[in-house]
Amino acid sequence: MTLPHDEVVPILDFGSQTAQLIARRVREAGVFSLLMSPDTPASELRAMNPKGVILSGGPASVDDPGAPRCDPGVFDLGVPVLGICYGMQLACLEFGATVGRAHKREFGRANLSIRSGDPLLEAIPERTTVWMSHGDQISDLAAASVEVLASTDSCPYAVVRSTAGERRFWGVQFHPEVTHTPHGRDLLRNFLYEHCRCTGTWRMSDFAQAAIDRVREQVGGGAVICGLSGGVDSTVTAALLHAAIGDRLRCVFVDNGLLRKNERGLVESTFRDHFRTNLTVADAADAFLSDLQGITEPQEKRKRIGNRFVRVFQEAAASIPDARFLAQGTLYPDVIESGHGHSGKSANIKLHHNVGGLPEDLGFELVEPMRELFKDEVRKLGEVLGVPDAMVWRHPFPGPGLAVRVLGEVTREKLAVLRECDEILLEEIVAAELYRKTSQVFAVLLPVQSVGVMGDGRTYENVVAIRAVETQDFMTADWSRIPYDVLATISNRIINEVRGVNRVVYDISSKPPSTIEWE
Ligand code: XMP
Repeated sequence: MTLPHDEVVPILDFGSQTAQLIARRVREAGVFSLLMSPDTPASELRAMNPKGVILSGGPASVDDPGAPRCDPGVFDLGVPVLGICYGMQLACLEFGATVGRAHKREFGRANLSIRSGDPLLEAIPERTTVWMSHGDQISDLAAASVEVLASTDSCPYAVVRSTAGERRFWGVQFHPEVTHTPHGRDLLRNFLYEHCRCTGTWRMSDFAQAAIDRVREQVGGGAVICGLSGGVDSTVTAALLHAAIGDRLRCVFVDNGLLRKNERGLVESTFRDHFRTNLTVADAADAFLSDLQGITEPQEKRKRIGNRFVRVFQEAAASIPDARFLAQGTLYPDVIESGHGHSGKSANIKLHHNVGGLPEDLGFELVEPMRELFKDEVRKLGEVLGVPDAMVWRHPFPGPGLAVRVLGEVTREKLAVLRECDEILLEEIVAAELYRKTSQVFAVLLPVQSVGVMGDGRTYENVVAIRAVETQDFMTADWSRIPYDVLATISNRIINEVRGVNRVVYDISSKPPSTIEWE
């Protein structure tokens, strides 16, 4: 496995919900990290020349049949090991402790009292809050080569360290990676800097250069096709490819007629004018809209758009004769979700939905330069590569575009109405400095007409819904508390400026139970 940095602290992932978060925290501290299979052989870890190893939490009990274990050789690598929750219990078992059910399952905040000093706890107050989430805990350390450093009221062994000479181990029963542990980042930094002696040189600019080198190595003198969606991931992928191979990058953008106002112009100006890439725009609005004629069922709309996308993309790609590679903006969460994240094995990744869900048999070799990155890291990479702010900080936009925001049948006329509403909405959100504070904001044209009064006359026109959400990961989301006066301006402008709309409503549903999109 080629690593993008020479200072790495891998995480053995025992299945914790927050294992990814540990990797992010380590990277934020300037040290490269990745999730690996819990049973990764110690020899494989040794070959990575790690500065330390972290054992994550996990849902199992250490004595469950089939509970994940690590290679005990992990403790003989000669580097510090930090165990978190299940990882701590497992390690303590190895060091001779007894692990059992806690008297009381402990979920939530607990008060930690530090009893002995250690560089791991450097600059952390003697009493501090930590976040616990466990049903088991260490019940007896008497026979173990482990000593206690801190405890909480119900967990006597909340922070421990080994006393076994060469086998350097520290363990915490709580979760330092979550924000509810206010000094958790400090603890992780202490582990990395004080114990692992990391220098914290993982920087996005290093990553960019290493990724550029790797792309050059992979594609040699070949040409690469990159499907652009206008979204952050495909934009940054293209920018990176362009930095690596210049005009051997051939970008393809499908205009499906379901785009926002000025979307095509923005993509063209970014890639033709700013990056000067070779850009093919496939003009396919007629084909998409004719596929959608008479279709009202959301899944059927999606299916037809997906199928057409593949055909249009394939045709556009066929017109680029010498390309053997296809670049994809696959991110680390996609790699992990598909079950291939561990140990960096080459993965059969679900193809990137932002560029429409291309099938695997297109006959290209994949180039996936961002497979190790989280979404916020992609944005940083975009900045390093000089991608304009307007592209780097864009809200996501679904592959099927405005088709899933015109509820019911999609027509050119309805799309035109929605585009105008959407543009006004975004203008006002930007003007109120709310764009960066919200995760996604859009308008939805409802298949409903309502009665209104304009001037002296009765109207019977469309209803538009406004959706604005805040979310970290788009799996759950809350509706944004947009100030009333901003909503008032939006509503006023839409009703006055967009012909055919006489009512605006605001969506106050969270996800779950609703979804972000309406279809
Ligand atoms: P939902 O509606 O599932 O949306 O809460 C979560 C996020 O995914 C986006 N989304 C899509 N993106 N193709 C995409 O590329 C799709 O078919 C699709 N459906 C939803 C949505 O905009 C939100 O960011």
